[in-house]
Amino acid sequence: MNVILLGPPGSGKGTQAKRIEQSRSICHLATGDMLRASTASGTEIGMRVKGIMDSGQLVPDGIMIDMIAARITQPDCGTGFVLDGFPRTVPQAEALDEMLAKRGLGLDHVIVIEVDEAALIDRLAGRFSCAGCGASYHERYNRPRVEGVCDVCHGRQLVHRPDDRPEAVRARFEVYRRQTEPILPYFRARGVLRSVDGMADIDGVTRQIEAILG
Ligand code: AP5
Repeated sequence: MNVILLGPPGSGKGTQAKRIEQSRSICHLATGDMLRASTASGTEIGMRVKGIMDSGQLVPDGIMIDMIAARITQPDCGTGFVLDGFPRTVPQAEALDEMLAKRGLGLDHVIVIEVDEAALIDRLAGRFSCAGCGASYHERYNRPRVEGVCDVCHGRQLVHRPDDRPEAVRARFEVYRRQTEPILPYFRARGVLRSVDGMADIDGVTRQIEAILG
């Protein structure tokens, strides 16, 4: 099964994609997490993109397309994938179609998570994540079971993302409206786009997504 999750910053793509990865045994490809891993390990690409990410702008299409093309062919994606954070521009959507067509693959579901802007601001302001494995938490809506300890890897370094500062969040919303929203009509025209009410709580959003995946 091949799935794309779309939605503005803080809409819950990462939270829901991790659940789909578990329930469907497919690989979770989160371009933001991949880029943050590159910056943390100091790779050449990581150094090039850090400033772009921290300011809330998009990394150039060519870097992102190469990154996904290399990852999608790995054996752990053999049963399918859930894309979280890609595509984010029309050229990325077109490149994805091309790379799937070459392999005789297609998209089963493209799901957009819809959330009001005030709720997004609240979610991003309260978010923290594990520096070790990237698991995402929220000060009120999604706390770890043990205070200060990651549920997934038991790491104790829980951090706020630099791009969750208010000025970077404003830039990310603007970039979403200008560069990412135009891909919605692209997928709608192909009849694969469905939307879910992301204002529901985390389990409520999961139930809506599971109903679509069937
Ligand atoms: P990326 O990491 O993809 O960031 P994003 O799209 O802005 O999305 P977020 O990770 O902020 O939010 P999310 O929707 O995953 O929400 P989450 O589940 O964490 O990208 C970061 C940067 O990398 C970009 O700005 C860009 O620079 C670069 N980049 C990445 N991909 C790129 C690409 N393809 N092209 C170019 N550049 C690229 O949830 C948020 C919070 O809310 C959490 O605290 C969570 O616990 C909580 N929460 C989740 N769901 C609910 C709910 N239903 N109710 C209450 N709380 C909830």
